[in-house]
This record gives sequence, structure tokens and C-alpha cells, in this order.
Amino acid sequence: MEVLIEETAHNVAKRVADFVERLIVTSPAPVLGLATGATPVLAYQELIRRYRAGTLSFERTRVFLLDEYVGLAAGHPGSYGSTIRRELIDHIDMATDALMVPASDAASLRASSHCYDAEIRDAGGIDLQLLGIGSQGHIGFNEPGSSLSSRTRIKTLAASTRRDNGRFFGGADEVPRHAVTQGIGTILDARQLLLIAIGSTKAKAVAAAVEGPITSMVPASALQLHPHATVVLDHSAAADLQLAEYYAVVQRHKPQWLRPEQAAE
Ligand code: PGA
Repeated sequence: MEVLIEETAHNVAKRVADFVERLIVTSPAPVLGLATGATPVLAYQELIRRYRAGTLSFERTRVFLLDEYVGLAAGHPGSYGSTIRRELIDHIDMATDALMVPASDAASLRASSHCYDAEIRDAGGIDLQLLGIGSQGHIGFNEPGSSLSSRTRIKTLAASTRRDNGRFFGGADEVPRHAVTQGIGTILDARQLLLIAIGSTKAKAVAAAVEGPITSMVPASALQLHPHATVVLDHSAAADLQLAEYYAVVQRHKPQWLRPEQAAE
């Protein structure tokens, strides 16, 4: 696992946008996995800026969203499908049918829980999956206790998640009780994982995920099993890491030929 610690949230956003841009310019048919929530918003703004500057096009890009609430009316502003359109897709040149969102209506959920994973597979798999992290260590809506080999399925949200996300709904009680989320096994199938965390409220979860034992009690710790996982943090989110100085040394002395911008050339 590579750990990148940036001075500011803006630098985190630029770093994340660099990863996305590198994929898009090097792949003939890039498949991105995107997350919603507060964390990736600045990165999405940076991607929109690059698109408007004419340096980046999303025409060939397909997107699979990480998760979606169950029970919200179509087009509800709090739904993750609406959120990703509002925060990114509506502002770039991606084809409208290139966004896939996990089906979360009762009929689809009864019909097949593995359908989304099949769609991801049929698209050739996800090249780069962006992830946030919950304050208790969840990724997607894989709450503590989730199977490390789980596939896309319905989950009941933890009380802490409903509390944390109440700010998007006008209170925790308004947050749906269920969501459909890519499973941890689904997430681990992506060719590259990019976990982003900003702010001190994530410091404990980040330290547990990056430096603690691999356990279903900290779903993000499953990233330790992935051969190509990168964690991009600001200083506050990195505050509880024991090896922060080592991660900085790794970056300072990284051989030129191992730097991703070199690999992309
Ligand atoms: P946040 O949520 O980006 O809104 O902090 C991240 C998460 O819960 O995974």
C-alpha cells in the first residue's frame, strides 16, 4: 500500500485528479469507480476544471458508482446517482448512458443481488476505484462486520453512518436505513484502489485501516490485501499514523522510473 500525505485538502484533490487523468489518457476505454460524500468533492471540481481548460475529456470513460441508498424517490437530491451527476457528470463530456448506479428499488433487489457485479465484469472490470472512509472504517456502505469477500448487496446502515450523513438529509432520522453497496470483494476486484481521507475525524479510522490488523471490524483494512492500493491523505487525516515519517521518506526517495507520471509516458 502506498500512502501519500499532502499539506492541504486542495493538494489531495489535485493528486486524486492526477490519478484519474493518468488513467484516462493512457486507457482506450477507462472504467472508473466513483464515490460520493464530502471527501471527493474537491477532486471532482478539479476534474471539471481540467475538462473546461480543454486538457481532459471523459468521452471514452465509463463510471460505476460505489453505492446507492434504498428507498429514495427517483431523482431525490440525496440519492448518490443525483449527487454524482450534480457534482461531476453534468459538468463534463461523459456520455449520459456511461454512468452505472447500483439498482436499489425493491424489484431489482429481489431479482438479483449479483447483477451489478456482472455489469462491472462485462465492462472489463474497474480500472481505478475511488473510495472515502467512514469515521468507523467503512468503505462504500460496508459497515464494520461486513464480510471481506462480500459482493454487491443490500446493507443496513450503522447508526454512526446515519448520524454522519444526516448533514446531507436534514438530520440522521431522514437518512435511509438501507443501501446497496459494492461488496468488499467487489471493491478488491478493481485494478487500482484510491482511498481518500481529509480531516481529523478520519484519523483514527485511517490509522486502523492502514496500520492495524486486517479485520471485518475495520472494512477499509481490506485494502491491505490489494496489490495496488493508494491512500491519499491530508495532514489531519494522517495524524494518527505511526509510520508517517517513513511514508514521506518513501515518496522523497522514490526512484524516478517508479513514479506514475513516468510510467504513463
Ligand atoms: P464523507 O464519507 O466523504 O462524506 O466523509 C465517506 C464515507 O462515509 O465513506
